[in-house]
Amino acid sequence: MEGGLVSREVISFAILEGRYPTTMRITDLSRDDASGITQAANLLHESFRSRSSAWPDIGSAQNEVILSLGSPKISRVALDESGRVVGWVGAQPQYDGLVWEIHPLVVAPQSRRRGIGRALVRDVEALVGARGGLTLWLGSDDELGETSLANVDLYAGLPARLSGFRSGGEHPAPFYERLGFHLVGVLPDANGRGKPDIFFAKWIG
Ligand SMILES: CC(C)(COP(=O)(O)OP(=O)(O)OC[C@H]1O[C@@H](n2cnc3c(N)ncnc32)[C@H](O)[C@@H]1OP(=O)(O)O)[C@@H](O)C(=O)NCCC(=O)NCCS
Repeated sequence: MEGGLVSREVISFAILEGRYPTTMRITDLSRDDASGITQAANLLHESFRSRSSAWPDIGSAQNEVILSLGSPKISRVALDESGRVVGWVGAQPQYDGLVWEIHPLVVAPQSRRRGIGRALVRDVEALVGARGGLTLWLGSDDELGETSLANVDLYAGLPARLSGFRSGGEHPAPFYERLGFHLVGVLPDANGRGKPDIFFAKWIG
C-alpha cells in the first residue's frame, strides 16, 4: 500500500487535533469493508438527493463508492469514535497524475461545521502532493440556482461573470474558498439548461 497506512493516519490525527476528538481518524476505504462502503453510499445518497440528480438511489451511490476504490485512486473515510463513517472523499488522477480531481466529498449532516470536510481535503492534498500532483480540482454543480452562474447566458461576458461570482444557500463554494481553492471555470448547462458545473482548483505542488 502506497505511503503506509500508519503514516497516513498520523497526518490526519494532527490535522484534526483541537477541532474534533482525537479519536476521530481518517483512513483508506477498503474494497473488503462492506459496511464502510454502504455507509459512504448512504451519506452520498442522503446528502445529495435534494440537491442533485446524480445519485437518485442507494444503488447508484453504492456504484459510485465502488468506482472510487482501487489504485491509483484515493478513497478515504473519516471515522468517529465508534468507527462510524461521518465523511468520505474520493480523488482520481488525470493528466498523468499532475492533476487530481476530488470526486465526491461528503460529510454527515449532523457532523458538519466541525472541521471534518477540511480534514478530508487536507488529507487528500497531502496524499496527492506526495504522489507528485500539482493541481487539485473539483466540479461543484449548481442545480438549484444558488450561484450567480446559474440561469444566465454564460457565453456572454464570461470573465465578468467569473470575477463577480457569488453563492448562497447550501452551495459549497464558500467551503472550497476557505480552503484556498480558486474559481477557475464553469461548464454551461452541464446539468440541464441554466444548471452549470462550477470548477474550483488549488495549487498543491
Ligand atoms: C461541503 C461539506 C463537505 C463541508 O464539510 P464540513 O465538515 O461542514 O466543513 P468544515 O467544517 O471543515 O468547514 C471548513 C470551513 O468552511 C466553512 N464552511 C463549510 N461549509 C460552508 C458553507 N456551506 N457555507 C459557508 N462556509 C462553509 C466552515 O465554516 C469552515 O470555516 P472556518 O475556516 O472559518 O473554520 C459539507 O457541508 C457537505 O457534505 N455538504 C453536502 C455535500 C457537498 O456539497 N459536497 C461538496 C460537493 S462539490
